[in-house]
Amino acid sequence: MASPQTPLRTLHQVPEAPGRLPLVGHVATLARDPFRFLMGLREHGDSVLLHLGRTPVLFVSDTELVHQALVAQGSVFATGRIFERLGAVFGNGLPVADIPTHRKQRRIMQPAFHRSQMGRYSTTMTANAEAMVARWSPGRRLVADTELLDLALSNTTEILFSSRLSDADRAEVHRSIPVIAHDVLVRAVMPAFLDPLPIPLNRRCDTAAARLRVIVEGILDGHYRSPQHHDDLLTVLVQARDPETGRPMDGTQLRDELITMLGAGTETTSSIAAWAVHEIARHPVAERRLVAELDAVVGDRPVTPADIPRLTCAEEILNETVRLHAAPLLTRRTVKPTVLGDIRLPAGTEVAFSPYALHRDPRHFPHPDAFWPERWQHIGSGRPRSFFLPFGGGAHKCIGDSMAWTQLHITLATIYRRWRLRPDRSHRVRQLPAAITRPDHLPMIAEPREPAPARAEGARS
Ligand code: HEM
Repeated sequence: MASPQTPLRTLHQVPEAPGRLPLVGHVATLARDPFRFLMGLREHGDSVLLHLGRTPVLFVSDTELVHQALVAQGSVFATGRIFERLGAVFGNGLPVADIPTHRKQRRIMQPAFHRSQMGRYSTTMTANAEAMVARWSPGRRLVADTELLDLALSNTTEILFSSRLSDADRAEVHRSIPVIAHDVLVRAVMPAFLDPLPIPLNRRCDTAAARLRVIVEGILDGHYRSPQHHDDLLTVLVQARDPETGRPMDGTQLRDELITMLGAGTETTSSIAAWAVHEIARHPVAERRLVAELDAVVGDRPVTPADIPRLTCAEEILNETVRLHAAPLLTRRTVKPTVLGDIRLPAGTEVAFSPYALHRDPRHFPHPDAFWPERWQHIGSGRPRSFFLPFGGGAHKCIGDSMAWTQLHITLATIYRRWRLRPDRSHRVRQLPAAITRPDHLPMIAEPREPAPARAEGARS
């Protein structure tokens, strides 16, 4: 924060990032190579001014400024431009809703995502992961990102909605979700005047969203037709009553929350799982440590929730994976005038930051581009606040973080208990900008591991 002596600057006194063009502002430079552009912004200071079209956006690279916007002054910041554009897909779901609606909806849904539920959910997660690896055969080429998207989709729909999708619906989700995850990010940075125009990007994204809406309608129909009680998020939403009016949740809001969960919970988790298997395949030391840990802790039985706290190597691998492959861009918007650092911000100012770039800042992570899971053994207290934000922060922090983290541990443990995944060298994996950075395509070869050695009584990792 600025001390009382620090003279305050206005937004327009903040230095502008290079690469601004007439009309489009920084959009073209950002679109050309988003990762390089976002990473380069810190060289121009802790805060720089971007223009997305004609809209000025304060981009912050300093962890304390990010912390102020997310947490310390969280009540004066709503989700900004990225989330607003999500409205085209998620309607008025959690990330898009106004502050009072968000607070009310989040309070209703939070218990379904509480850590205490994970033991119950893990039965489904383990069964689905076991079913995935049971379909693999030695030497077979598989498309790991597709397999893992399918797994995350089964987990989301079965755990949260007690619903199994038909093959046709699954295929539809596979087609639509990556389109949405990519296009929503592009829509968030492109100039607002393009929003209502029937350009291919908007049409593609709207069509994908409409398809997801049909699937969600089908899930809801199934819920109303089935008489038995389910202990799931969908039932919580259907049974919720407004404490003031006693009325049930509006049908549109209910659908919007379901589509949000489907959209926000699947591609994110599957992208991180895909990056994890990709990194493990390229780092034999990490793979050896993981396999040794699984032999010691899990042995030759399915993984259980009680194993997870002991899977410290898996935890390090996952931390390192979400560090390197985080959300490229997140936004907030001031709801009233405020001061961020030494900058005076009027109401309605867009503020942006990049977990991807923060996580690769050498001030916080030495050798930031290296995949080095052991670094997490040395990361303790004394780090700046908000230096590691794989799930964002503040009131809009990912509601599904515990669910994702449990799934990711179970997925890795189930795969590496019996299999190794080798990269298919015919494809060079590229990272694509999306809500969470994702691999373009991940063909891999499944090879069975040697049988695990008999587990010594009392063995520990
Ligand atoms: C590894 C997997 C995941 C990652 C990396 C991830 C990451 C994120 C991030 C970065 C945000 C934005 C937070 C902010 O703006 O501060 C977010 C929000 C959200 N995520 Fe996740 N997420 C994951 C899994 C999930 C799962 C499994 C679900 C639910 C099934 C979920 C549901 C949501 C929802 C509903 C929001 C909006 C929350 C709000 O606005 O209150 N996510 N997530």
